[in-house]
Amino acid sequence: PKEKGWVFENLAKYHDTWFNSTTLKGVMLAQDYFVARPTDIFLATFPKCGTTWLKALAFTIVNRNQFDFSNHPLLTKNPQALFPFLEIFSLQDHENTELEISTSPRLFSIHTPYPLLPESVRSACRIVYVIRDPKDVFVSSWYHMQKVRSKELPQLSLEECFKMFCEGIYQFGPYWDHVLGFWNASIESPDKVLILTYENLKKNTLDSVKKIAKHMGQPFSMEEEKNGIVEETVKLCSFDKLSNLEVNKNGVTKIASFRYYENHVFFRKGEVGDWKTHLTPEMVDKINEISKRKFGIHAKKGLTWR
Ligand code: A3P
Repeated sequence: PKEKGWVFENLAKYHDTWFNSTTLKGVMLAQDYFVARPTDIFLATFPKCGTTWLKALAFTIVNRNQFDFSNHPLLTKNPQALFPFLEIFSLQDHENTELEISTSPRLFSIHTPYPLLPESVRSACRIVYVIRDPKDVFVSSWYHMQKVRSKELPQLSLEECFKMFCEGIYQFGPYWDHVLGFWNASIESPDKVLILTYENLKKNTLDSVKKIAKHMGQPFSMEEEKNGIVEETVKLCSFDKLSNLEVNKNGVTKIASFRYYENHVFFRKGEVGDWKTHLTPEMVDKINEISKRKFGIHAKKGLTWR
């Protein structure tokens, strides 16, 4: 594809997944150099499935004895600034795997498809993966792309972008295969890979947060639950709280030495079902048909698509 803005810049296919050239370099460097510690925890998503939210929750959970809720790092830092993406970390520090991450256990975000993760991650580490309705993923990514694309590149219409999403020619795409990689890993090793959905996170946030904490090896004690620590965690990481903070309205985050983001781009509506006001009935049918074809045989085990 021609260069047409963020999602489609310099895309190349590697092992059935589309990457832009910088990201692909990061994925390959991670494969070659990164050695995970068994205690490392990976927060995995396809972009726009809830990465920012999951990062905020995971950071708050593992640091709950270190920071007071009234003076918490999340009040002054964007969740993306709290710990790195493995792909970007590897680009910058590929020969220095001992570089300290300030959280303990070390937390990493990943967008890399499961089969392309370094062997040390797949064999030893715990992973939390968030699935989101692909219709909302598409709409969210469409808006994100408008915000971050190079202004000198021509704009891609919603229809053109939709076609690319359905064909899988998208950064880390196809979406469905990304999900299936982690889904299959979770069936094989449920103790290692926890699957959540954005929709259920919204509906049952409290229970989901407890599940995440347990999977991360840091379950909330009865006393913590009684003292409202789970509720405080949910409140601090909520869309309303984070998106209204000054740092997330006007701040900027340095994701890597070569990449900055304005923090507001990580927050838009934070809702389920916004696709209903953006997609035509034909688009909905098309995307549901792909989901049914790709996910259908897993439905009995709980993989749903709407
Ligand atoms: P929308 O564009 O549908 O609003 P990612 O973090 O993976 O890039 O995903 C971004 C999506 O998650 C955006 O969705 C954004 O608004 C939403 N989001 C960000 N922070 C959130 C939070 N704390 N709670 C719920 N949704 C959140």
